[in-house]
Amino acid sequence: MKRNLITAALPYANGPLHIGHIAGCYLPADIYSRFLRNKGEEVLFVCGTDEHGVAITMRAKKEGITPQQVVDKYYNQISESFKTFGISFDHFSRTSREIHHKTAQEFFKKLYDKGLFQEIETDQYYDEEAQQFLADRYILGTCPVCSNENAYGDQCEKCGSALSPTDLKNPRSALSGAAPVLRKATNWFLPMDKIAETPEFAEYSKRVENWRGTVKGQFKSWLKEGLQPRAMTRDLDWGIPVPVDGADGKVLYVWFDAPIGYISATKEYFEEQGNPEGWKRWWQDDESQLIHFIGKDNIVFHTIIFPMMLMEHGDYILPAEVPANEFLNLEGQKLSTSRNWAVWLHEYLSAFPGRNDEMRYTLTSIAPETKDSDFTWKDYQLKVNSELVAVLGNFVNRAMVLCKKYFDGKVPANFGANTEHEAYRKRAQEMIDSSERISQYVNELLASYKFRDAQSEWLNLAREGNRFLAETEPWKLWKTDPKAVEGILHETLNLCARIAAIGEPFVPETSQRILQQLNLAGKHADIAANWNQVEEGANLGEPFLLFTQIEDAVIQEQIDKLAAESAASNAPKQEENMLAPQKDTIQYDDFMKMDIRVGTILEAIKVPKADKLLQLTVDTGIDVRTIVSGIAEHFAPEDIVGQQVSVLVNLAPRKLRGIESQGMILMAESEGKLMFVQPGEKAVNGSGVS
Ligand code: 2FM
Ligand code: ZN
Repeated sequence: MKRNLITAALPYANGPLHIGHIAGCYLPADIYSRFLRNKGEEVLFVCGTDEHGVAITMRAKKEGITPQQVVDKYYNQISESFKTFGISFDHFSRTSREIHHKTAQEFFKKLYDKGLFQEIETDQYYDEEAQQFLADRYILGTCPVCSNENAYGDQCEKCGSALSPTDLKNPRSALSGAAPVLRKATNWFLPMDKIAETPEFAEYSKRVENWRGTVKGQFKSWLKEGLQPRAMTRDLDWGIPVPVDGADGKVLYVWFDAPIGYISATKEYFEEQGNPEGWKRWWQDDESQLIHFIGKDNIVFHTIIFPMMLMEHGDYILPAEVPANEFLNLEGQKLSTSRNWAVWLHEYLSAFPGRNDEMRYTLTSIAPETKDSDFTWKDYQLKVNSELVAVLGNFVNRAMVLCKKYFDGKVPANFGANTEHEAYRKRAQEMIDSSERISQYVNELLASYKFRDAQSEWLNLAREGNRFLAETEPWKLWKTDPKAVEGILHETLNLCARIAAIGEPFVPETSQRILQQLNLAGKHADIAANWNQVEEGANLGEPFLLFTQIEDAVIQEQIDKLAAESAASNAPKQEENMLAPQKDTIQYDDFMKMDIRVGTILEAIKVPKADKLLQLTVDTGIDVRTIVSGIAEHFAPEDIVGQQVSVLVNLAPRKLRGIESQGMILMAESEGKLMFVQPGEKAVNGSGVS
């Protein structure tokens, strides 16, 4: 069995954590670490704050403090929030520590000495007033794509285009406002194009085949587009000094030093244990497997750049898995620090003390594992009240209260050898068999990083328990057959124990509370392995409720707070001024699968009892068909009859309000207004649009 080196992306120490960060990588990494530890596997789970790069200096400028003050402030806040929330890191470090500077510099030096880097001179923007080179984020200008005047040197946040500083029209420095000049600067580049051609990289690439779709997709698309040499040093004054002669005023690229932070965190952990060589067993031994939990914006760094660095260094293992999550949205909009559109972890922790598991459970139930997902406060309330309170809490509480009432808080006997209660015994066995199957399945899902499905399957154990009690009705049976009640409740307690043991990775505090009531604290592994763990006659703890209902007013307060704080921020609102970011790249063939034709609307009527829907009869040239479209709030039916529109004709039919819709009308949306996508002049129905 290999030992598991688990990392979660180092958060920038430039702001507080929000639930998007948690759902993105910290919670899944924590679930996985706990799952493996419970199975008895060796785990080392490391993380720390990422304290270099422009993210930090920008924040310092914004807050009017020094970069050092920024990282100190947020390191404290972030590490405290993680601790209170119960993320079970074995070690949490920070990249400003000396051990990290030393490790990153030695790493760079080794690659430098072997002659790996290419020295390349490029034109860089320089601010003559501020007397410094400008990182991409410090250059503002007009986007060549959408004319946004405040696009950054690396990206336009309005249209989502990826840019280079020299793409911007009318560039200006974010430091002084002056127009920057181009100056020559020499930096050291990682020859990614050449490394991609090596047999080592080809061998490593085979692993990627088994990784998640998005990870594999991004990996392949970077390779297909052709990798370019990438600068591993920058002309900045905040970061780790480049450890070679002639590199004054240069620091390591933040994406060179940050992943090395995983290594230095491990070193620091073992130094603190008095075993300074201990880290090598985790990083330089094939019996160890490296698993990086990240968000999808970090994929290229963890699947290509860092592995290339490790490979070229030569002493290290390469990642065995990179489970990357997609993004979490909040109430239908992108989470945004600048617009203050976020649920901040530290604020949640103080508004909902002792309710870590409620947030963990909700975030895992909507984990963005294969596509972006949405957190809403109403959904949080619904999940807590109708799943945690009504299904899980209710089951465990009924079991505990019945044992207290009938057996004075002691574990009753199991069915034993006599055959008197055959029907109940049989029903109990069914429940046990089904619970064993579910437990097995939960384990399989966890092992394959499907945490969302695993948790949902796990809750079925409690549903199974509620069904078992509802069918056997021990509260009625007590009067006629108390012996049968003993067996029923004995197995019910075993099920409670199983739920606690298997559910520990999802809801660790609840798991502890269940085991505390059962007097089985610390017995996870035994319970997960063998069914019969409660002992006849053993004392149970006092019953108490695991969860309490969340009232409407509590949720409304959060919704109001979100709206008020985002209104108070000056940043533009997403709906009004922001365009949606560009979607993931698709291939030409994907586009060619769509059959889009010009059609004419022959008839339009409102769909009864559906405010948004119109039922349209459309002549597509190939036939006359019905299409249900969600445009009733934007058009009067009589105004659109006779109009030519673009129709996606080969969309699979689907029923809307009982009417089969056979296609889709293409619409443009501009500032909240819907418009048809129409040919510039009259076209023959059925003409192709491509
Ligand atoms: O995207 C981020 O938040 C980065 N700070 C992640 C760094 S992960 C690692 F490589 F350190
Ligand atoms: Zn733009």
